[in-house]
Formats: sequence, C-alpha cells, structure tokens
Amino acid sequence: MTTNPKTRSQELMQIEDKYGAHNYHPLPVVLAKGEGVNLWDVEGKHYYDFLSAYSAVNQGHCHPHILKALHHQSSELTLTSRAFYNNVLGEYEKFMAEFFGYDKVLPMNTGVEGGETAVKLCRKWGYTKKGIPENQAKIIFVEGNFWGRTLAAISSSTDPSSYSGFGPYMPGYELIPYNDLDALEAALQDPNVAGFMVEPIQGEAGVVVPDDDYLRRAFEMCQEQNVLFIADEVQTGIARTGKLICCEHHGFKPDILILGKALSGGVLPVSAVLARDEIMLCIKPGEHGSTFGGNPLACKVAMAALEVVRDENLSERAEKLGQIFRDRMQKDVVEKYDIATLVRGKGLLNAVVINDTEDSETAWNICLKLRDNGLLAKPTHGNIIRFAPPLVITEEELHKCCDIIADTISGWANE
Ligand SMILES: Cc1ncc(COP(=O)(O)O)c(C=O)c1O
Repeated sequence: MTTNPKTRSQELMQIEDKYGAHNYHPLPVVLAKGEGVNLWDVEGKHYYDFLSAYSAVNQGHCHPHILKALHHQSSELTLTSRAFYNNVLGEYEKFMAEFFGYDKVLPMNTGVEGGETAVKLCRKWGYTKKGIPENQAKIIFVEGNFWGRTLAAISSSTDPSSYSGFGPYMPGYELIPYNDLDALEAALQDPNVAGFMVEPIQGEAGVVVPDDDYLRRAFEMCQEQNVLFIADEVQTGIARTGKLICCEHHGFKPDILILGKALSGGVLPVSAVLARDEIMLCIKPGEHGSTFGGNPLACKVAMAALEVVRDENLSERAEKLGQIFRDRMQKDVVEKYDIATLVRGKGLLNAVVINDTEDSETAWNICLKLRDNGLLAKPTHGNIIRFAPPLVITEEELHKCCDIIADTISGWANE
C-alpha cells in the first residue's frame, strides 16, 4: 500500500476500473465525505456540490434529521416484505397522500421502477376503465425523454447511447417531439392511447424547459381525450424547481405522479407513484410490487426527508436562489464570454449551454477545471453543463460558487 496521499485517488479509480463494469464515465474525483452542499475527496480537498447526485440530495448531504430517522429505524425494523403488515407503512402512505394531495401511493425503490409502475398502472387503467382492446394500449412519450435504464425505459428513448444494441424493444409506445402541442393533439386522436408520460423539464436532455403554456395545455388536452397525464417528477420534484412538484408552477395536478431521488434525501433508493383511487385501484393484489418497496426503513427516511423540505422551506429557497443564479450567470458569464451562449432552468435546476457542438469535449473540460477550482458539476452532452446544488445552499455560498464558475469560464475563454 502506498502512503502517498496524492496517489490514493488514482489507486481507488484503478480498482473501480479493474473490477467494476465500465458502464459509467465519472469525472475523475474520488469523494469520501459530504455535509450539506460540501464534499471532500480522499485527499481532503473541498468542493461545492453542483450536481446533488442528479437532484437526489436536495436536502444536502447527510442531513442530520434524515440520518436520525435512519439510525433509529435501522435498529428497530428494516424489512418485512409486503408478505406482512408493518407498523410504519400505513403512517408513511397517509403522510405521502396528504403531503402531495393524492388518494393513494404505491411505494417502490428506484426512479425507473416508479416509471415502470406508472406505465403498468396506466395500461391497466386503459383496459379496465377506458375500454381499450387487450394488448392495444399505447403510451405517448416525447423525444429526448429519460426515465432510466430498464428495457421498458430505453424502449422510449431517442438517445442511441441508451437504446443501441439492446433491442428488441417494448411495443405500445408512441414518440412525438417535446414542446409540440400540435403533435400531441394529433397523437391523442388514437382511441387506444391510455397515457402521456412527460418530464415537466427534461433533465438528462440538458435541462430543457418547455414553453410556459405547454404543460397546462397538454394536461387539458389529455383530459379532453380521456388520457392520463403522467408526470415524471423524479428529477424535477421535491422542491428542486421552486415548487414541491414542477407541475404546481402550471396550476394542475397530474393524474399519475412519479417521484424518486430526493424523496429520501439521497440516503436510500425510495420512489413512489401517486394517483387517485379510480386509477390506483386498477392494480389488484399480486399484480405488482417489490420486496423492498415500502420497507419501514425507507418509509421513515422518506418522511424525514419531506419534513426537511417543508420545515426548511426548500421550495421557496430554490425559487429565490435559482433566480439569483440565473441572473448572475446571465450577467457574469453569458453576456461576457462567447463560450457560453445561454443559461436556462427553473428554481435550482439550471444549465449553461456552451458554444460548441454536442459531441465536443468542451463541457467536460470545463467541468475538469471547475473541479480543480473546487466545484463539481457534470456535463449532459458535450455542450451543456447542469448546475443543481443542494437546496440548502446559502445565498453567500451561491455567490461564491457563481464567482468560481465565472472565473473558470473566463480563464477558459482567454485560453
Ligand atoms: C426524470 C427521471 N426519471 C427517472 C429517472 C430514473 O431514476 P433512477 O436512476 O433512480 O432509476 C431519472 C434518473 O436520472 C430521471 O432523471
């Protein structure tokens, strides 16, 4: 074993490279500790986190209120499976239903399982309530969508790196362009359409924000055609965009709501699907589930995570700080340096678009420099950098981070 702390990171990266599957391309930094908006690598270097584990750590790393719930419940009862009742699940389901304003919740673990659950639920509703002939149900998706890596999820993908080489794909999907109401109107004419599944802001596609009236109008059009509006709020939900869920900005409640990521504050994989009785009760005992879904440890952690969102006013913070971030990026980066063309986003889910081609290395190289300067962000595509810090970041910290980003990009622009 080497004693030189400088080589510890390299050593750990080499172990991952040798023994782990090569299904990711991480930024070269090896993290060892997190607290709030702060991260430290194995050599003790400090960073501000501007990814938040893809918006899973909205409450900040290792939030003490969430960890207290984790520690307490982990020594009481962690898993019973759904073969039996446990003394926490009902409390959690009531809490969730009231918190988000739905009749019922179906608990799962990962975000993609939430999406899968929503698709199954929607199909079942299509057959049992809408009267779609057996095996004919269709779900409309939009281009650029991302909802995970299972076969059901990649079957709706328009990104070749997600779907290439993994066929055959799931039938019953219809793809239309994002932010295109005419295309939606046309697709909705098919009587076999059961649902329309959409991210209110496309996260992985590069924080793509649709026109202001798109979501509201899409929801109304779905209602007119008796089609379920399914909101994938795995990334946009839980206060990230300045409201508890992003659809709230547009004044409607989706028929099916999918949540994940920050539902546990980044502590455990916890996801959930919420819906009205009329929809949720289409799934009967034995038709869907998961060994870990709704386990008492996850339930306690999720309740604590949502208490933090409520008690620390994270939606309001995201709204206010997001505006400051975009103003600063506009003034100190976009208007000053040609290398940055645009800042966009909502709340604290934002991105800066770099003036280069999608397959360039520019955004990646800027992220390497940001890392050197103490801020961690990740490109989505070669020319977009997403900036999404934990929502507990202070205004002072945010300004400091804006300085780091502006300095980094200025150095870049001058090279
Ligand atoms: C909008 C959206 N839905 C679903 C998922 C999948 O979540 P998970 O990785 O927990 O399966 C993601 C992951 O990034 C996402 O951004």
